[in-house]
Amino acid sequence: MQGVDMKRRDESGGGATSGPLHLPVLVAEVLDLLRAPAGRVLSGWLVDATVGLGGHAEAILREFPGLRILGQDQDPEALALAAQRLQGAGDRVVLRRGRFSQLPDTLDELGIERPVAMLLDLGASSLQFDDAARGFSLQADGPLDMRMDPTRERTAADVVNTWDESDLADLFYYEGDERESRRIARAIVESRARAPFRRTLALAELVERTLRRGPRGASPGRIHPATRVFQALRRAVNEEGEELLAALGCAEERLAEGGRLLAISFHSGEDRCVKRYLAEGAREGRWDLLTRKPVRAGRDEVRANRRARSASLRAAARTRGEAAGGAA
Ligand SMILES: C[S@@+](CC[C@H](N)C(=O)[O-])C[C@H]1O[C@@H](n2cnc3c(N)ncnc32)[C@H](O)[C@@H]1O
Repeated sequence: MQGVDMKRRDESGGGATSGPLHLPVLVAEVLDLLRAPAGRVLSGWLVDATVGLGGHAEAILREFPGLRILGQDQDPEALALAAQRLQGAGDRVVLRRGRFSQLPDTLDELGIERPVAMLLDLGASSLQFDDAARGFSLQADGPLDMRMDPTRERTAADVVNTWDESDLADLFYYEGDERESRRIARAIVESRARAPFRRTLALAELVERTLRRGPRGASPGRIHPATRVFQALRRAVNEEGEELLAALGCAEERLAEGGRLLAISFHSGEDRCVKRYLAEGAREGRWDLLTRKPVRAGRDEVRANRRARSASLRAAARTRGEAAGGAA
């Protein structure tokens, strides 16, 4: 299959620069977990619920000639690029726009009863992070948006400008692991009383100034001081916690017996959620764990792709046990 050459756009909106728009992570490990034990023949439908730019899907189609893929994503821009990349696969690929919570309806609509595998490559893609106009970026100024699905009503600006101080503080603490959540929430509420936040850099700079004045300072070095606040806002705007639970529930209800769920997380809370869900399911006889510890990227992959440094892959196989929702 011939993939299209998808290059990163330069920030000025001009032509392509070198480097792909999004590098899929842990591809060899995903293929190994689908294949194990070595030589297993896979046929039927695999659901790639985060098809993104189609990197994982392309590798899976090449490796398993008996598989067809339903590729879903909530981002129409990503789907258009996936369609280009996967066009050589013909009717082995069906692409649909939608969220995890809409996946059961999509499976019904397509008459896919029992997929043999499901892949979740969670969070946002480099396509989304690197385009300042999407509003995820701490480095380049853009509207404070952060919607992966542009038809969602609520943007990051809505959250920042309308939530109560205590709700903002809880959001930064629980969804971003930000220890200075209360001070940052207070600074936001004081600042927005003078003028609402509209742009990413205005918020990033306020967080940085607030942390620099605090007892711990703005930890210099590895990550931008506003990274955790931005992560929390992104999770709220896209309802990532609720959506992940919907995806896990759909995998449990719909996967065939022996069908495999593979989930890649980039955030400790997300990984904890997958881990707990599968551990509880394993205790109650619904899942066999295929990974006791999360699979992490090797040094070479991290060197080639910085996003891979925080990726954690967990996998499990569905047993005969009745789904927690009662519909196995
Ligand atoms: C890390 S990227 C996936 C990249 C993909 N595996 C590839 O190889 O190109 C995550 C994708 O999942 C999508 N996504 C995140 N949450 C989603 C949800 N709840 N429903 C549907 N798509 C979602 C994002 O829009 C993004 O395109």
